[in-house]
Amino acid sequence: MSDHTQVKMTEMNYGKDRPKAENPVKIEDLSLRDGHQSLFATRGRTEDMIPVAEMMDEVGFWAVETWGGATFDTMHRFLGEDPWERIRTLKRYLKKTPFSMLLRGQNLVGYRNYADDVAKAFVERAAENGMDIFRTFDALNDYRNFETVVPAIKAAGKHFQGCICYTMTEPRLGGDVYNIDYYVSKAKALEDMGADTICVKDMAGLIAPYDAYNLVKALKENVKTPIHLHSHFTSGMSSMSHLKAIEAGVDIIDTCMSPYAFRTSHAAIEPLVMTLIGTNRDIGFDIQHLAKINEVLERDVMPKYKHLLDDSKVSIIDINVLLHQTPGGMLSNLVNQLREMDALDRINDVYRELPRVRKELGQIPLVTPTSQIVGIQTVNNVLFDDENERYKMITGQVKDLCYGLYGKTAVPIDAEVQKKALKGYPRGEEPITCRPAEVLEPELEAAKEEIKDLAADLDDVIIYALYPTTGKRFLKWKYGKEPVPEEVKPRTMEDVKKEDELIKKAKAGKLVEKKSKEEVPEKGENLRTFNVFVDEDYFEVGVEEVGGTPLVSYIQQIQSQMPAGGAPMAAPQPPPARAAAPKAAAKPAPKAEAAKPAEAPKPKAADVGGTPVTAPMPGMIVKYEKKVGDAVSKGDTVVILEAMKMENALPAPTDGTIKAINFGDGDAVAKNDVLAVIE
Ligand code: CO
Repeated sequence: MSDHTQVKMTEMNYGKDRPKAENPVKIEDLSLRDGHQSLFATRGRTEDMIPVAEMMDEVGFWAVETWGGATFDTMHRFLGEDPWERIRTLKRYLKKTPFSMLLRGQNLVGYRNYADDVAKAFVERAAENGMDIFRTFDALNDYRNFETVVPAIKAAGKHFQGCICYTMTEPRLGGDVYNIDYYVSKAKALEDMGADTICVKDMAGLIAPYDAYNLVKALKENVKTPIHLHSHFTSGMSSMSHLKAIEAGVDIIDTCMSPYAFRTSHAAIEPLVMTLIGTNRDIGFDIQHLAKINEVLERDVMPKYKHLLDDSKVSIIDINVLLHQTPGGMLSNLVNQLREMDALDRINDVYRELPRVRKELGQIPLVTPTSQIVGIQTVNNVLFDDENERYKMITGQVKDLCYGLYGKTAVPIDAEVQKKALKGYPRGEEPITCRPAEVLEPELEAAKEEIKDLAADLDDVIIYALYPTTGKRFLKWKYGKEPVPEEVKPRTMEDVKKEDELIKKAKAGKLVEKKSKEEVPEKGENLRTFNVFVDEDYFEVGVEEVGGTPLVSYIQQIQSQMPAGGAPMAAPQPPPARAAAPKAAAKPAPKAEAAKPAEAPKPKAADVGGTPVTAPMPGMIVKYEKKVGDAVSKGDTVVILEAMKMENALPAPTDGTIKAINFGDGDAVAKNDVLAVIE
């Protein structure tokens, strides 16, 4: 390796005029897409990219990533910006450097497989608007999901970059599935498809430095196509992995400008430039020019975004990746999900069950959306399965996966799990083996028809076709049919200054003048006392309306929630003995929840006659599959509940007739709410 690391520096020269290296590492900058997607919830606005755009164009990047991934969704949903307009605007400032976008294969820039006609039109319009390099990936590395977009990229004369999602089942690269041979065979498949470059996409920051070295070496020996490494910093390894990949001959590396770097984003460009100065792989960038860009970013741009940084932890790395070989984001989602279900104590069971579920579901890579699919099914298994039965509650997305709608899994799905998942599946109980989009009907003409009153061109139609609800709302904003809501408008530097002043004041203790004790009013004669029950807790609350009679009627509110013709509602239970101690609870209730007596507790399982179908977790009712009076057999789906973006079919616990349906489609429900009653 010594030939790669020789330092032949003749003078201290950071400038652009230093001698060009033999084989300079090429750099793609991700600040304007993955950088703000990783650090600032994809909230970067076009107006905040313009101040540095021309300077960025002078750096000499191989490409700048400006579009794709979550930007399309976020821009039209949260920023009130036309996603297509961003490409055209930035092109006016970045005239020399090619633009790159992240394309989710047949999922385009959304979260499901779109029909072929939409996929083809999307790529054509992206190319026409100014996109040059299409970085294309599929969550299952099933390249049949590229078969529609790649010919469209090629036909437009653009660059097709094929990705291999990097994943593993062992602490380091190897094992039966995701070993060097796997990645080499995927790279060959991409080369055969006509890939102009091949990207190892390490979205979770899993790749260890020596694995990066061995992998890049093997890829360079087996394919002629240039190799590109995309590795997130999440676990803290990516700077080291970059260096080892460079030693192994990688052609292109992804980095960010330092204000957009590190944490769950990418390693920064500046240290890498310094590291390689004087070597045969010197990048050749002018580090003083980079410093000037950073100055502008820090002064004019970052103040508007720093409030979006996740500062819940001091550490900038997440070592969960090193401990569990699973993406950090996925694990924090699992923790949140368990917390919502009051089951945080089961986290170690989840860690144990996760590799098993992943294996049964075909050992799939863990990347959005597959990481969610595996994660949530694992939590369901831990919480609801028993020793007699596994996979008691299978999510809709796992059923889709078992049917083949996402594509082919790395190893076959466990036959028993697959059979169980597909029992009663609406598309059929026999899984498909064809390219998933082949079972999808064309969508574009219908979309054109539906949105013809709002859409001015095909770009508008595509916004609607990809995101019907939020897309339509955006088009109303765009054409002035509806006012743009305040929360969608940009933050200005003035807003930031005002907030900073408030924070300064607050820190100095000058923000809120605390009321002194004397100012608490005397209890008057209109004071009335109420018993408030929150789950198992009981509070006694004094309510007094100033200058009048209180109009709080807690008991009536409970009764108004009784299902029509439903089972009798139990009256509030007597307070538990511990709360009945005289005056012990007479002060204002200590818990915030107790201050909201209007939100009477929803019916609980124990309160009803018949057999209740209860919500096993908080969520939203997608739809009831049965109505009052329907006969059901044990195991039939009664209601679909969405929780953590996954759909869960809740089965009838017994045979009988539906006596009551207690909620409507779209209602939010709490854990243990009685959704229906069977008698
Ligand atoms: Co990324």
